Amino acid sequence: MLAVRVGSLHLNSPLLTASGTFGHDPAALAFMDPADLGALVLKTVTPEPRHGNAPPRMAEFTGGVLNSIGLENKGLAYWRETVAPQLERAPVPVVANAGGHSAEDFRRMTEAFDAMRGVAAIELNLSCPNVSGGMQFSTDVAALDEVVRACRESTRKPLWVKLSPNVTRIALLAEAAERAGADALTVSNTLIGMLVDWRRRRPVLGGGTGGMSGPAVKPLALRLTWECAQAVQIPIVASGGANCAEDVLEFTVAGATAVQIGTALFRRPDAISVIAAELRRLLAEEGATLAELRASLAAPNSVSCAVSDVRNPR
Ligand SMILES: Cc1cc2nc3c(=O)[nH]c(=O)nc-3n(C[C@H](O)[C@H](O)[C@H](O)COP(=O)(O)O)c2cc1C
Repeated sequence: MLAVRVGSLHLNSPLLTASGTFGHDPAALAFMDPADLGALVLKTVTPEPRHGNAPPRMAEFTGGVLNSIGLENKGLAYWRETVAPQLERAPVPVVANAGGHSAEDFRRMTEAFDAMRGVAAIELNLSCPNVSGGMQFSTDVAALDEVVRACRESTRKPLWVKLSPNVTRIALLAEAAERAGADALTVSNTLIGMLVDWRRRRPVLGGGTGGMSGPAVKPLALRLTWECAQAVQIPIVASGGANCAEDVLEFTVAGATAVQIGTALFRRPDAISVIAAELRRLLAEEGATLAELRASLAAPNSVSCAVSDVRNPR
């Protein structure tokens, strides 16, 4: 009932973990029934190890969290030796997430993931707001084109491009990613924000600014999903603020094929199984499939209220 296809990748469920919110390896799967999870999307890996940003790295606000992790990870060599062998036994497809500072970094990561048997698809994190230069590839069409083409030439595995919400017209970047050979778009990463400790006259996070996620960003993520779905033919994997099955269906109607669950997992590590059960119930109640609901959003002007409706309310 929940099965979907993201390009050539068959998933048992439209619910995926969001990179960086559910561990660095498949051990995190212990928290849920793999039958409810479409794919495990793992934390960003960079060519070299990274220590990440100064603490504090996470803070809560009404409606979500702000993080400035700074892509802490043990680097490609560790991942190849220690994590990659475990992926071959994972009960769901694994999407590896690549980070870097240059097109060559991304190409190198893609080539490495391509050679790992346990990696089913590759997500390019072109949009991390918490590292210097982390967003150049998702805010500049020419830079995005260069990096996606370089990665496309390095793999025949499904290539997902994770876009940034911190742009004026996301459709231009979505179109560029599609032209350069992306198989799917992840829409999107965190929104740059800031929290202030006014008594200390300091930003709350050690890094100063951070990436906003959680329920507060859902309306933005829905708008971006909808804009991208209209701009491209490739599937959209939505990411931003999904917390329950109703949210997942909203993203589906706006045009998403799959939905990543991130911040919601901090409150409930089993959130994906809870959402999957509710999703099955809502679809049965509605008598609709995900495919029927996908991109079924009415054009906004078709619901506008005509003057005659106001004068003669029905
Ligand atoms: C603590 C934390 C760490 C994250 N780390 C990464 C990361 O390493 N790579 C990445 O592509 N996105 C990362 N993200 C972004 C999430 O994958 C997701 O796109 C974002 O949080 C929006 O979804 P949500 O509102 O469901 O959390 C991180 C988010 C959080 C909260």
